[in-house]
Amino acid sequence: MDDHGGRRRPLGGSHPAPPREERTLTTVRGVIDVDLPGPRINRHIYGHFAEHLGRCIYDGFFVGEDSPIPNEQGIRLDVVEALRAVAIPNLRWPGGCFADEYHWRDGIGPREQRPRMVNSHWGDVVEDNSFGTHEFMQLCEMLGTEPYVSVNVGSGTVRAASEWAEYLTRDDDSPMASLRRANGRDKPWSVRFWGLGNEPWGCGGGMRPEQYAEQARTFGTYSRDHGSNKLYRIAAGGNDDNYRWTEVLMKALGRKLGGDIAAEGDNTFQAISFHHYTLSGSSWSQKGSATEFDVDNYYWTMAKAVDVERILAGHARVMDVYDPDKTIGLVLDEWGTWFDVEPGTNPGFLFQQNTLRDALVAGLHFDAFHRHADRLVMANLAQTVNVLQAMLLTDGEALVRTPTYHVFAMNRDHQDAESLSLRFTTPAPVHRVAATDLPTVTGSASRTADRMLISLTNLHADEAAEVELDLRGATPGEPVATVLTADALNAHNTPQNPDAVRPRPLPGVTVADGVLRVPLPPHAFVTVAVPVG
Ligand code: AHR
Repeated sequence: MDDHGGRRRPLGGSHPAPPREERTLTTVRGVIDVDLPGPRINRHIYGHFAEHLGRCIYDGFFVGEDSPIPNEQGIRLDVVEALRAVAIPNLRWPGGCFADEYHWRDGIGPREQRPRMVNSHWGDVVEDNSFGTHEFMQLCEMLGTEPYVSVNVGSGTVRAASEWAEYLTRDDDSPMASLRRANGRDKPWSVRFWGLGNEPWGCGGGMRPEQYAEQARTFGTYSRDHGSNKLYRIAAGGNDDNYRWTEVLMKALGRKLGGDIAAEGDNTFQAISFHHYTLSGSSWSQKGSATEFDVDNYYWTMAKAVDVERILAGHARVMDVYDPDKTIGLVLDEWGTWFDVEPGTNPGFLFQQNTLRDALVAGLHFDAFHRHADRLVMANLAQTVNVLQAMLLTDGEALVRTPTYHVFAMNRDHQDAESLSLRFTTPAPVHRVAATDLPTVTGSASRTADRMLISLTNLHADEAAEVELDLRGATPGEPVATVLTADALNAHNTPQNPDAVRPRPLPGVTVADGVLRVPLPPHAFVTVAVPVG
């Protein structure tokens, strides 16, 4: 990164922020029409992703029954407890790139008899298949979350995909239902989310969009609904702003469609996904450190993060042309920061620390997701434990909740609430990043029958701001505000200091004459819960 005018400076605990009085205090005014709710924010935009990659499944979720780490049938209880506390709505598995090499029948039956395989994408390690279908479904039951199964389109067969659906969801004496019973599970599971491959343009088969669209139609067709179980088939989409991929898939649907997230009928797929990662470096080979970055790199990362909104809007625009009634869902089933791995760790394991910067990236993504609630039905953070922008980090018996985890916790009540439009009527301060002006105050809001939740981010590295929001069409009650910040942008949690970055009550938030005033410290994520009459 360039050094602009000597402003480059290291960020760390040894560089505390200057006292508040020295900072500029800008007031940013805005309006929320509380009595004009918009589309429901699908809870599934707070979804998750767990791949057989590095220490996500093994060590992260699954330690085996003989581990001294407290577990139930091999599944870590501390991880389950932490994730239950934030109500994760779904969990995508087994990949990622791994999904298109995974053969589900290798992961059932007695563990000692399961075939082994090479995990060629991630560290070239040998996978022993000890965590398979039954273990995943058990994990979902313990988490109280919906499974999102990604089937192998790249190197698998239509028959295998079809039989996996039968194995999971059929309740009679069919061959696959009988096999499931022989492996110890009598009743079928309920499975809705069904991904048709992963990144077919790359690791998932190197396909052209037209070629993949045909595959998606075939795999979707033979992935049957059994009994009352209805699959919601998600076609694998393009990367970033590859809108052409989305358009080819929309055309491949070929006719007027009906239904919504629980769509019935013979549609071949009901949603289209895409992936978008936030990179802070100059290239894939130099992605930058998760913890050692300067303030220019911090702003650069923030500019990359807000770009998700342009990309979301671009995909939505293409879909609107073919599906103006918005019956096909848009799914961002991989998002998050992607930095260089921590020094000394396996480059194929994608293990990175998670700082306050990651938390602000998450907050910005959720603002964009809330604003696109009319089309975006699901999003999945990559990944839940020990990989990329993780919620949780484990180190032996230790478990650390990352700053990103706390954003999910603070935003929890947006799940299934009705989105509200938050319009700023005075411009937010901007920070110049490359040729663009990056607004440094952002936010979003939602409501239920009796309360609203407002999320605000001040991403300015040094300057505080005050937000004044005119809450129109409601009688607001006493606000309760929470802030996530730290002295340093790169503050993070470790087993030795697990609460270096944690939510705290935010004083000084007032409501008078329908106007809510919120003081925002620099580099802070804030939520304000307000009872509304
Ligand atoms: O999340 C890590 C990898 O990123 C996934 O396996 C792949 O889909 C994407 O490229």
